[in-house]
Amino acid sequence: MNNQPTYAHKKSYAFPARTVEVYFGAENFNVKDWFGNASVFIITDEHIHQYYPELTRFHPAYIIPPGESSKKQSTIDAILEAMLHAQLSKDAIVLGVGGGVVTDIAGFAASIYKRGTRLGLLPTSILGMVDAALGGKNGIDAGVFKNMIGTVYQPECIIYDYSFLKSLPQDEWVNGFAEIIKHGCIKDRDLFETLEQHTLEDYQQNSLLTSTLIERNVDLKMDIVTRDEFDQHDRQLLNFGHTLGHALENLHELPHGSAVSIGMVAACVLSERMADLHFEEAARVVKLLTRYHLPVSIETDYDKLFEGVCMDKKRKGDHMQFVLMDTIGSASAKPVPMNYLQEHLKSLI
Ligand SMILES: NC(=O)c1ccc[n+]([C@@H]2O[C@H](COP(=O)([O-])OP(=O)(O)OC[C@H]3O[C@@H](n4cnc5c(N)ncnc54)[C@H](O)[C@@H]3O)[C@@H](O)[C@H]2O)c1
Ligand SMILES: [Zn+2]
Repeated sequence: MNNQPTYAHKKSYAFPARTVEVYFGAENFNVKDWFGNASVFIITDEHIHQYYPELTRFHPAYIIPPGESSKKQSTIDAILEAMLHAQLSKDAIVLGVGGGVVTDIAGFAASIYKRGTRLGLLPTSILGMVDAALGGKNGIDAGVFKNMIGTVYQPECIIYDYSFLKSLPQDEWVNGFAEIIKHGCIKDRDLFETLEQHTLEDYQQNSLLTSTLIERNVDLKMDIVTRDEFDQHDRQLLNFGHTLGHALENLHELPHGSAVSIGMVAACVLSERMADLHFEEAARVVKLLTRYHLPVSIETDYDKLFEGVCMDKKRKGDHMQFVLMDTIGSASAKPVPMNYLQEHLKSLI
């Protein structure tokens, strides 16, 4: 007998092609309770599997090695082969249980298997919960070029069971808070101020505080991506800190959150320099990032960093679309000349 799935509440977010049902506060997640007798194929990673081995007890699964290095074509090939081997039909559900690496891979595999099968996501990291599982973007890296191959494909459901966070390592908590601070910077001054009143340790100890914070971030990102699924307008703001962040991430093999944190500081300093922006709160952003144990500067090779920046997708000829701050809680994408960036890079980081 299957039990009914237990969750606190549900919200629906409508995209043109599909409505995504988001279930918050799921408890004791169990595949059978949630999906009954449907055919489910699980994708997860070795860390998650080690903590939650029962996830794959009754269902075919593919367990990837943890980490960014799994985001490559050969992983997708192996997953598709396992799905074919399990004789999965087009109406089977691919369920990705894990951090952003797993949800990106699960989304991509689901979107191309038999030209698209059903997809469910259960994000288990802070970053996955507030960012990667939301918005339908998925994919793999092509060498050092991050997220270059992929699709935009919405899941039919996203399930939040906060108890998975109990096993999340400290570094991954810190990593995820970079994106939460980003959300405060670009869209939600009140969120930024709430973060100023708390510490990471408060959130780690108080599950109600954490679930409230995560749901607010889900709403914020879903509001942006439902209105701009394909990156034409406001979705670009989510790149705040990512232009320099991605280049730093490649150059130093930094964790994503650390790289984005330094990238946000650089973008704040650049915003202060732009005469038309009147931004004056870079120091306040630096203080908040530091409060959440994120790095705010790094010794780097500026020439190599500039080379990395030049490869960014947002580069348009001699300009880069750069997300800059107007004030805390409000940002906009502005063209910054590449030669200005090259000249001033050293003073930004
Ligand atoms: N698609 C998008 O819109 C989007 C947005 C942001 C980031 N991303 C992608 O997300 C990825 C980063 O996500 P991430 O930081 O979650 O990385 P990740 O998936 O590598 O997870 C980080 C580490 O935490 C472990 N982990 C996750 N949940 C755990 C848990 N509950 N208990 C114990 N260990 C756990 C993982 O095994 C891994 O070792 C990047 O590849 C990035 O490109 C995608
Ligand atoms: Zn990010």
